[in-house]
Amino acid sequence: MKQRAAPASQARDPAMKKTAPWPMIRPPATIAILGGGQLGSMLAQAAGQMGYRTLCVSANEADPAGRWSDHHLIADPGDANVISRIAQDVQVITVETESIEPSALAAAESIGARVAPSSHVQTIVRDRRLEKGFLAANDLAVGAFRVVESAAQMQQACEELLADGATEILAKTARGGYDGKGQRWIRTPSQADAAWQALGQVPLVVEAKVDFVSEMSVIVARSPDGGRSVLPVFGNEHRHGILFQTRMPAAVSESTARAAMDLARRAADHLKVVGLLAVEMFVLADGRVLVNEMAARPHNSGHVTLRAASRSQFEMHIAAICGLPLPEVEILRPAVMTNVLGDLWSVESAPALTKVGEHRSPDWATVLADGRATLHLYGKTPRPGRKMGHLIHTGHTIEEALVSANAAFGRLTTPS
Ligand SMILES: Nc1ncnc2c1ncn2[C@@H]1O[C@H](COP(=O)(O)OP(=O)(O)O)[C@@H](O)[C@H]1O
Ligand SMILES: [Mg+2]
Repeated sequence: MKQRAAPASQARDPAMKKTAPWPMIRPPATIAILGGGQLGSMLAQAAGQMGYRTLCVSANEADPAGRWSDHHLIADPGDANVISRIAQDVQVITVETESIEPSALAAAESIGARVAPSSHVQTIVRDRRLEKGFLAANDLAVGAFRVVESAAQMQQACEELLADGATEILAKTARGGYDGKGQRWIRTPSQADAAWQALGQVPLVVEAKVDFVSEMSVIVARSPDGGRSVLPVFGNEHRHGILFQTRMPAAVSESTARAAMDLARRAADHLKVVGLLAVEMFVLADGRVLVNEMAARPHNSGHVTLRAASRSQFEMHIAAICGLPLPEVEILRPAVMTNVLGDLWSVESAPALTKVGEHRSPDWATVLADGRATLHLYGKTPRPGRKMGHLIHTGHTIEEALVSANAAFGRLTTPS
């Protein structure tokens, strides 16, 4: 039966753990997942299927990852005291969100716990200043950018980038942004100050607009011994800064796919990441590839592997952090993942809304009638722009999968 408290301490000697290498962690060892969102939930499901036990640490009882974990500790997953305490009870600690404070991971590392990603990696990927600096320093191609920490620097950065030929500028908060949040477009130097104010006068990275022809992502799984497996390249379409759809395989040339995989592999090696590293990229008209940003965890675009690849990204993350051999991930069939946002729960944007019990819900029957579609719902409270779930459509060809995916999305969003 599911317990609501942390498991009893297995009293391991922290000093021993400090010097121990990273041995293969075998089932039924316990994996701690810090954070309670859908990525944690799908990690817990994969871990459970692989024979591991999971302890989710998250702030709220209702968090999706708590529902799917063996144990749910309701506490601040970024609190160093909490994480030091649970470090005694689990064999490995992982995170499902950048919001986890690296200091909490460092506290666990200091007593010899195995933590993946490490506090070092977490520090870099959660701050766009460090992330961009890391990419540039390691010769991993990025677009023009400036780090900005004052109104005067903001003005200067915008003037310089526009003078250097940027058609527009995207200012992003260094920390805490996701799904396009914490971003402002700037078209003239006169808009710099308003953007600085609107973003809360916090450190920023300001970027020249990249005139991309498409976006893609590459996920690398990397083990403690440096072994790695690169997942197939995903083609991504964003709408209003939020991932709308992912296709696998991506519509890119062989050479672009190779360049993308090489960039991702190099980034993972330089970071010495353990677990998944997801690298978002832009494809330019001349076929060149630029890195946009990275995440050291499962990534929304990788959900498509749940139904259409020989291993899911979640299984690969668990395998990597447990030091299991990493198989090659093969595409089993072409597939399209479409995100389901909370907007669908509002009457205006979802004409097919039905009343189920006390709760209004989109009319899932309209999509499930197609047997090649799977619906994945995370069980969160709907809010506009919030990721509530996703659909995966498979097909004999990617075109066929796209047609079914877009028809299903259309039925959910357009009046019949
Ligand atoms: N420099 C840029 N030029 C053009 N579009 C961009 C740029 N940076 C981000 N975008 C667009 O905004 C989306 C979200 O930005 P991103 O930096 O990935 O932030 P988030 O952390 O919210 O995902 C990207 O996927 C892309 O579509
Ligand atoms: Mg992004």
